[in-house]
Amino acid sequence: MECNYYHQPVLTNPLITHFSLTNQACIGDGTVGFGGHAEAILSQWPGICYYGFDKDAMAIDCSKNRLAGFDHVHIERLPFSRMIPWFRDRGITPTHLFVDLGVSSYQIDQSQRGFSFQRNEPLDMRMDERDPLTAATIVNTFSKDALRGIFCDESGISHPDRLVDAILHAREAAPLVMTSDVVGLVKRVAVVRSRQRFISECTRVFQALRVAVNYEMNELTTFLNDLTHCPGVTVAIITFQPNEDRRVKQCIRHNGWQAVSKKPFMASYHECKKNPRERTAKLRIFTV
Ligand SMILES: C[S@@+](CC[C@H](N)C(=O)[O-])C[C@H]1O[C@@H](n2cnc3c(N)ncnc32)[C@H](O)[C@@H]1O
Repeated sequence: MECNYYHQPVLTNPLITHFSLTNQACIGDGTVGFGGHAEAILSQWPGICYYGFDKDAMAIDCSKNRLAGFDHVHIERLPFSRMIPWFRDRGITPTHLFVDLGVSSYQIDQSQRGFSFQRNEPLDMRMDERDPLTAATIVNTFSKDALRGIFCDESGISHPDRLVDAILHAREAAPLVMTSDVVGLVKRVAVVRSRQRFISECTRVFQALRVAVNYEMNELTTFLNDLTHCPGVTVAIITFQPNEDRRVKQCIRHNGWQAVSKKPFMASYHECKKNPRERTAKLRIFTV
């Protein structure tokens, strides 16, 4: 299969440098995506057993295609919350586990699933289209309290209550079906004095919806809890949101896991200029 989609991986250098890999390693990559990190790792250590997982069908096809030239690669469509049980059921003991949270550039720019407020697309946002919950279902059917839970909890949205009221009011007249419907409501309720602030506000609203549609905090929590059954495994986690990084940091501290460094690895100013997605990325590496 020809794959014309693109995603530039973030923080590849610190990952390669500090993940303590050898040719004898067995990696579980819970978010293999377009195989960028996988290819960088396998190019350096071609003897590694590499198990890649992802929820997105396009990511699965593209990573299979990209990694076809390496010997010990297995790709599976599965949420990463089920990665550790998947290994356990097969009697496989991974030495390294890796997750690179969030969305790929393909999902934002090309998937036409409504991940970006900059494109007018159906309000979907599912990474796996077999999942029942879409962003449209959330905004059109969730109760006021449930919507407040999504937009008020740690989302950083400036006027979440106003947004929730606007959603409830708008959907009485007609269901919200396109991304532009939500952008229109943000425009109406957010008191933003600059285009930059408006962009940040829309980004937060769309992020909060995406996190809810894809159960992203539950996925991370389940994965972190399962790590307690994997003594000795070395783990690398890339997060893009402060609340995700906080959860990882607290978990490392709470369990007394051995972190490679106290502070997360982050991209330099120049790296962020080349790849703006790196701006908020944080990488933590630790041994369970
Ligand atoms: C930032 S991209 C990963 C990019 C990848 N490291 C690369 O180098 O191409 C995030 C990927 O994680 C996937 N994803 C997000 N949440 C997931 C989950 N809970 N389980 C499995 N895959 C998930 C998305 O479909 C997306 O392909």
